[in-house]
Amino acid sequence: MVPELENATVRIQRPERVAGIIRSLREQGASKLQVISDFDMTLSRFGCSGGRCPTSHNILNDSRVISEDGRKKLKDLLDYYYPIETDPNRTLEEKRPLMVEWWSRVHELLTQQNIRKGDIAQIVRESGVMLRDGFKELFDQLHKYSVPLFIFSAGIGDILEEIIRQANVFHSNISVVSNYMDFDESGVLTRFKGPLIHTYNKNNSVLQGTECFQQLSTRTSIILLGDSMGDLTMADGVPSVESILKIGFLNDKVEEQRGKYLDAYDIVLERDETLDVANGILRYIL
Ligand code: C5P
Ligand code: MG
Repeated sequence: MVPELENATVRIQRPERVAGIIRSLREQGASKLQVISDFDMTLSRFGCSGGRCPTSHNILNDSRVISEDGRKKLKDLLDYYYPIETDPNRTLEEKRPLMVEWWSRVHELLTQQNIRKGDIAQIVRESGVMLRDGFKELFDQLHKYSVPLFIFSAGIGDILEEIIRQANVFHSNISVVSNYMDFDESGVLTRFKGPLIHTYNKNNSVLQGTECFQQLSTRTSIILLGDSMGDLTMADGVPSVESILKIGFLNDKVEEQRGKYLDAYDIVLERDETLDVANGILRYIL
């Protein structure tokens, strides 16, 4: 059916169930399908050139527009909160208020840095960020078959849009819900527009009233792509889901998190820097 499912990075707890979902997605066809995807570490790579690939936050935080003092404070916040975000021994209820704290402190710091709208393209160009291998096929196929791609990100909307634009794949079928910057008349960042989206509130609560929420409710077959346990609720706002296939990239703390990911995601991709599996499934469905 889908040869890519035999790749060494693929783990599936219930293969018959997965085969059933994929068959049903094919039967429903392109007109019923939508792809709901996380951005950082899902569409973008986790690792590149031996190190970590930057997230949309990292890109800004490590850029030349941030003062040395600002960079240090942002790094301290990352070192403190990232282990909490990915701690397999804490519940989501424990993590949620801490994530709000992290994002709020970061946004506050960023608004003190005199960041200019006009700097963003250059910051992204200099960042070394990479989309996962196979991104062009993914974005182009979805566009070709008019399948909506809804990107739901706790990162920074202005940065991730620019990454996609510079990769020449920002097609008309893409909609994004993320944390967007608000600039004053002279183009300087003054605040972030609400509601604040962090790793563990990617659900209905922040989608109500958005334009794409309306649009997406008629597409009842879903492929969901994520890398965090928080990404599993991204499709909760779609009212009558017929079939949903959840594909999870397990990037970090692989051995510790394997069991939990296998229970939650239909397909788990371990240390896989490509979109080959998603592309293989789409090739079969479309
Ligand atoms: O797009 P996505 O929802 O994945 O964005 C959240 C990602 O951004 C998480 O992987 C988180 O670790 C990362 N992050 C970061 N710096 C922050 C806040 C979040 O790198 N200040
Ligand atoms: Mg992510």
